[in-house]
Amino acid sequence: MDKRPIGVFDSGLGGLTAVRELRRLLPGEDIVYFGDTGRVPYGGRSAETIIKYARQDVAFLRTFDLKAIVIACGTVSTTALDVLAAENPIPVLGVVAPAAAAAARSTKNGAIGLIGTQASIRSGAYERLIRAENPAARVLARPCPLFVPLVEDGRFRLGDVVIETVAEEYLAPLKQAGVDTLVLGCTHYPLLIDVIRACMGPGVTLINAGAEGAKAAAAALAAADALNDRQAGGRYRYFVSDRQEDFSRLASIFLGWDVTEAVGQVDIAAF
Ligand code: DGL
Repeated sequence: MDKRPIGVFDSGLGGLTAVRELRRLLPGEDIVYFGDTGRVPYGGRSAETIIKYARQDVAFLRTFDLKAIVIACGTVSTTALDVLAAENPIPVLGVVAPAAAAAARSTKNGAIGLIGTQASIRSGAYERLIRAENPAARVLARPCPLFVPLVEDGRFRLGDVVIETVAEEYLAPLKQAGVDTLVLGCTHYPLLIDVIRACMGPGVTLINAGAEGAKAAAAALAAADALNDRQAGGRYRYFVSDRQEDFSRLASIFLGWDVTEAVGQVDIAAF
């Protein structure tokens, strides 16, 4: 048993897709969340910059006595997981391998679509891990660089003509290719799940990288006998690197509970 909190981070709101699943699976766990809202998006940046930012995010989170860190960000998981895991004495867990495994299991026709940030797609990490599980799979990958800024701007709802137009444009080639499974390889994208489902149609299975990462983290903690013994009442603290207000409003909508009192601001450049 380990009562210490779990650290979770992302460039912004996206990692809340993992937080929501962690709360569903492990409602007694305490969570410290960091969203780097002052520097989002990460996905168009170089690997060097992403690694630098990720190291600072982890250094801030480790000011808390944590039992594990979940990288609730596809971009950091594809680009910096090995570096962060090697540098830290606590488990550092990513979202890419669990999402790739779920996609490899899910496909029936062998055609898997993958959407993510430019850095994630460029890394080739999802394809490698999908093929390791299912060598016959064909992976059609597309970066969707406008999705993260639009989500951070609160434009994630069905009926918003801007996000619907952008989604149609990005997803049309995947639809035409007949994929039966689509990996939402960036943790921001499940906030667009209604919009993406409306584009792709009901026959396509959507794989949520944030939720798959959370499931794998919960399983890893259980296997290491590192869960809290509380069955409910986990405490949540959130930190951001820019204005608290926008994060609080959108996070409260997405999570379905009011986070306002639990959000703080941090000068991430100092770490
Ligand atoms: N949620 C991050 C991811 O999973 C978004 C990256 C970004 O900031 O561009 O990739």
